[in-house]
Amino acid sequence: MSGQRVCVSDFEEEARKVLPKAVYDYYRSGADEQRTLADNVAAFNRWYLVPRVLRDVSTVDLSVSVLGQKLSMPLCVAATAMQRMAHFEGETATARACRAVGTGMMLSSWATSTIEEVMSAMTSVGAGGVLWLQLYIYKDRELTLSLVRRAEEAGYKAIFVTVDTPYLGRRWADMRNRFKLPSHLSMSNFSTASLAFSEGNYGNDSGLAVYVAKAIDPTLCWDDITWLKKHTHLPVIVKGVLNGQDAIQAVNYGVDGIVVSNHGARQLDGVPATLDVLEDVVRAVQGRCDVYMDGGVRQGTDVLKALAMGAKAVFIGRPVLWGLACQGEQGVRELLELLKEELRLAMALSGCRSISEVSRSLVRRVEFTSRM
Ligand code: GLV
Repeated sequence: MSGQRVCVSDFEEEARKVLPKAVYDYYRSGADEQRTLADNVAAFNRWYLVPRVLRDVSTVDLSVSVLGQKLSMPLCVAATAMQRMAHFEGETATARACRAVGTGMMLSSWATSTIEEVMSAMTSVGAGGVLWLQLYIYKDRELTLSLVRRAEEAGYKAIFVTVDTPYLGRRWADMRNRFKLPSHLSMSNFSTASLAFSEGNYGNDSGLAVYVAKAIDPTLCWDDITWLKKHTHLPVIVKGVLNGQDAIQAVNYGVDGIVVSNHGARQLDGVPATLDVLEDVVRAVQGRCDVYMDGGVRQGTDVLKALAMGAKAVFIGRPVLWGLACQGEQGVRELLELLKEELRLAMALSGCRSISEVSRSLVRRVEFTSRM
């Protein structure tokens, strides 16, 4: 381990040094020219926090209820694929860290640990933590439903269905690296080499783009949300909404929540930063379901801004991978505790003693003035 890590970028810097280049590139990349990738982060600079003072902030309560589960903070772990590329314990280490911190983890369908293994890691020690399954809808619908059934049986608490990936975005680094999984790993929830992303040869392209084109269902449409809801008793949340009209549609189809997400800017470059459309979605939904967001969150103040703009909770993806690469379970735990402490301090310095005191009046858009 290098010097003390005091911010998320310290974790990224260290992770970049320890990860094989193709792995770091896969985790870090956005689509095409990566304009949205940069903008997801930059969007937080377009908003000020406007604090209140003299409010006795000697205690600050960060706890929140998400989909009926009490969490220690409104910051959860987003689904990121193939975590054993970052650390040999992969998703099981992330789950134990979430358990220790008392927060939620969304497990990717493309995990390198099974649904059951990650649940037993989550329940092995201490108290707290909750697991949700991120679901890709495969052309093979029986296979898709088998993932849902396994999640139900293992005790997962919700299904987050990804709706922004009928095809994989063009990630130039992965195309140049002909990205595929190292040969000792596979997508553990699948039993055949073609579904487990462990075939030897994917040609000259990003192997994952080839995999998605073969396996994932591009015909997905709103009626499939009805289909999914019919086959599970778990809450269904749609992940990957950027448009208020789609948010209304999602509510009309009876979803339990929406994640405002551009898939970490990995799908369609040129879409807005998630923070910039969060309020459109919140306004469209009018409280009829929960709204969550991910994308570009790198500090406690970012979480606070998103909450003030109406997010019920916020998800982080890449920083968790950096924590995992730095030091496995301990690295993820340290990362989550760092962000938790940053959020606690940001709330205290803003005069908020609990999440319910975080309101829209806490943020104001920065006005840019032209000198021309
Ligand atoms: C996985 O979901 C990815 O975007 O690579």
